[in-house]
Amino acid sequence: MDDLDLGQISGHINTSWLGRTIVLVGSVDSTNSWLKERAEEGRAKDGTLVISKVQTGGRGRLGRSFHSPEGGLYMSFFIRKPDMKMDTSLATIAAAISARDAIHELCGIRPRLKWVNDVYIGDRKVGGILVEGKFDPVGRTMDHLVIGIGINVTTEEFPEELKDIASSIVNETGIRISRSLLCARIADNLEKMLRETIEDPEGLVEDYKGSLMYIGHEITVSSGGGVRPARLVGVDRKGGLVVRYLDAEYEVTSVISSGEVTIRGGSGNGA
Ligand code: BTN
Repeated sequence: MDDLDLGQISGHINTSWLGRTIVLVGSVDSTNSWLKERAEEGRAKDGTLVISKVQTGGRGRLGRSFHSPEGGLYMSFFIRKPDMKMDTSLATIAAAISARDAIHELCGIRPRLKWVNDVYIGDRKVGGILVEGKFDPVGRTMDHLVIGIGINVTTEEFPEELKDIASSIVNETGIRISRSLLCARIADNLEKMLRETIEDPEGLVEDYKGSLMYIGHEITVSSGGGVRPARLVGVDRKGGLVVRYLDAEYEVTSVISSGEVTIRGGSGNGA
């Protein structure tokens, strides 16, 4: 039997509102885009979870593409009128923790997280998060959020250009977990973590920091303005990355918001 199956997912999910409506499709350009289109047409129900076996135009942060062949889990949740405290940064952190913990529960290995949205096992990226929100200028609140999560589960082959940076759970651990079970555990964890973003955002960020890669290490920060060496100090209460630039004449600590930059470990190996 296919390890990604609607009956299996709904049989294992224990949420009260998130993922109570589930749509499973064989192929779509992007599960985030699918939900955003329906949201524009007023046809997306709060809490809807859409999953695709394959994505033909999977998207990542900063306009990048996300390789999405058979063997991965590609899922997006729709949140209508999220609480004011739940912005895209905290929702990204909540989703990253949810994916980390679900993988840990199912294969006993705790992935690390690379700011702000990457899930790593060893030195390879096995998953990523893309949160997209629409602002309501009239109400001056968020109209909705789409939380997209992609995990390479049983994918064994990666294109040449991704081989050194991306991998899958099966390649890194030798463990072949059920995508249905992983999907249900992520949904359960995410419902809990979204509550945390409202009730205890500082606790959420502390939890995230506990798995953060490169903390205290030298990194390079790339943005439109170039590449700068820095030390990764931590994450602030809103999920911004706190860095100390190493090329500045004075000690300068800056907070970087998620939309702006990519970071690399000091070794510059693309991780
Ligand atoms: C990244 O690596 O920058 C984020 C990748 C996010 C991928 C997921 S897969 C499900 C959802 N649909 C998309 O098109 N992207 C997200």
